[in-house]
Amino acid sequence: MAEHLETLLKTSRLYRPTAQTVERAYIKDYDAAYQASIANPERFWDGIAKELEWFSPWHTVLEWKYPWAKWFLGGTCNITCNCLDRHVRSWRSNKVAVIWVGEQGEERIFTYAELYRQVNRCANALTRLGMQQGDRVTIYLPKIPEQIIAMLACARLGLIHSVVYSGFSAPALESRIQDAEARLAITADYGYDRGTAIPLKPVVDKAVANCPTIEKTIVVRRDKQGGDLRAGRELDWDEWLEGESTACDARPLDAETPLYVLYTSGTTGKPKGVVHVHGGYMVGTYITTKYVFDLKDEDVYFCVADPGWVTGHSYIVYGPLLNGATVLMAEGKPDYPTPGRWWEIIEQYGVSIFYTTPTAIRLLMKYGEDWPQHHDLSTLRILGSVGEPINPEAWEWFHRVTGGDKPIMDTWWQTETGSILVTPLPCVPLKPGSATRPFPGIEADVVDKNGRSIGTGGGFAVIKKPWPSMMRTILNDPDRYLSYWNTIPGCYTAGDVCHKDDDGYFWFMGRADDVVKVAGNRIGTAEVESALVSHEAVVEAAVIGKPHQTAGEMIKGFVILKQGQQETPELIDHLKQHVQMELGKIAVPREIEIVTSLPKTRSGKIMRRVLKAKELGQDPGDISTLEE
Ligand code: WT7
Repeated sequence: MAEHLETLLKTSRLYRPTAQTVERAYIKDYDAAYQASIANPERFWDGIAKELEWFSPWHTVLEWKYPWAKWFLGGTCNITCNCLDRHVRSWRSNKVAVIWVGEQGEERIFTYAELYRQVNRCANALTRLGMQQGDRVTIYLPKIPEQIIAMLACARLGLIHSVVYSGFSAPALESRIQDAEARLAITADYGYDRGTAIPLKPVVDKAVANCPTIEKTIVVRRDKQGGDLRAGRELDWDEWLEGESTACDARPLDAETPLYVLYTSGTTGKPKGVVHVHGGYMVGTYITTKYVFDLKDEDVYFCVADPGWVTGHSYIVYGPLLNGATVLMAEGKPDYPTPGRWWEIIEQYGVSIFYTTPTAIRLLMKYGEDWPQHHDLSTLRILGSVGEPINPEAWEWFHRVTGGDKPIMDTWWQTETGSILVTPLPCVPLKPGSATRPFPGIEADVVDKNGRSIGTGGGFAVIKKPWPSMMRTILNDPDRYLSYWNTIPGCYTAGDVCHKDDDGYFWFMGRADDVVKVAGNRIGTAEVESALVSHEAVVEAAVIGKPHQTAGEMIKGFVILKQGQQETPELIDHLKQHVQMELGKIAVPREIEIVTSLPKTRSGKIMRRVLKAKELGQDPGDISTLEE
């Protein structure tokens, strides 16, 4: 890795923004803007927050009782007022808010006024069910507009939404509903994956059977013929909303009121429920969307994420709507029905901002340059990448096929950070593979394990001061929240290994912990291990991440079988199916190797680092604690 990086740093080309890009941009001089912001971050954030509407102003910008932060104290707001009401009262009322393109070629378009009405109807229906401020609602939907409507309707009333990605299996959904103690589940009959209808309702049925807190399930029925509903407990979305008024005032909420919980993987088997709040999250997602993508009213903004992950929360739903943008949301995979799918959408809708992922770029790269070349991509002006490091080859390809003059914003952040923290702005010179520099107001650094800044070189990525969109806690587990701020003294530790070069550019290298990034999705090795061990043929399992050409990383499992179990190809398949049933398709190990022992410390902890080094033919480093 280190050697590879050395050559990368030496050979890296600098891509300067065009004069036109700088001319148009909100921020024309990064250094000046950054220095001014961190000279007094609270003043900076105060100014940004004032660009938005509040019911009542705050008296204190930040209360920092290490490591607990509160932002905009005394202020009351509701994030949906800034996503909807503010625009509906302006000329944007009839502006397109959401363009949805379905996998089957469908199209649905919502103006701000229409989205506002739908959200209000949904909020009124939620109230009719007796939902109260602070109650949790689990949303398990495919990528359809109802996902946005349900999220905003919850937020409007101060309910806490918990969106669970619709690729998760029943046990994974069940544990998330249980942890959140949700009163309501919202789902659909089907999602689509490359032309195949994937039933979702049976997954919810299975999960909810073990979730006594769930009182009702709402089902969006894409196929009106399909699926009976159990009277009383299950309601059809359309019938549920029928007759509800299109008016509903947003509830004024204290700035620190929880907006949502979103589960993400860590180093233990139990996912963590990251909690974000109305005020600070609103300010962070608003300004990052505006400055990073240089978002203007005439833009058509296309983000390929799924609202099941944080990128969808912050950069399909909240950030763009806070800015009054036109957001394009497309169901389905980048290469279905053809590898021209996204290029076609860009041409057809005149997309000007395109935010995607390294995995998708590498996938499209495999199909060749003809696909993008057959489309007019001249409307594009700003590109984005997120979720994992982008390798320079993929960066260069993406840059070239889109015309060679559009800046790529390689945005680094996390579920926990709520919004983008290290990123170029359009005016910043780019180095392919580097997320460049911190966003204004953010004091990011690379330090050693004692928290000492390394100047230039490799170390751990940290944030040295609180920021408005930071998570406030981990639901039901404040100790786990504390550990982010305890690992390295005085800093928020992101869990990423990072290199800082002579120009102060950040090069994120991957996770420092037992988290694997498969196609940008965060998967805890411990979760996959416990899924494997729950299979009757398995005694013990260890899971590592391993480089993969398109997905960035892939999962490999090492498994010790119970005595008398035979290693057969069928058994390996069963183990994979078992993980799919326990967690979902995204967590299935691509490779499983049967072994007779695993490297462990004397205290019995599996040394995944040693397994990984062996697998990759590298030096395992210090193995003095290894028992066998
Ligand atoms: C982890 C967070 C950020 C929203 C989607 C993923 C990795 C994210 C980058 C990037 C290198 C990146 C980090 C981070 N990551 N963006 N631009 N370059 N690595 O959110 O699931 O919470 O994952 O994704 O390892 O810690 P997440």
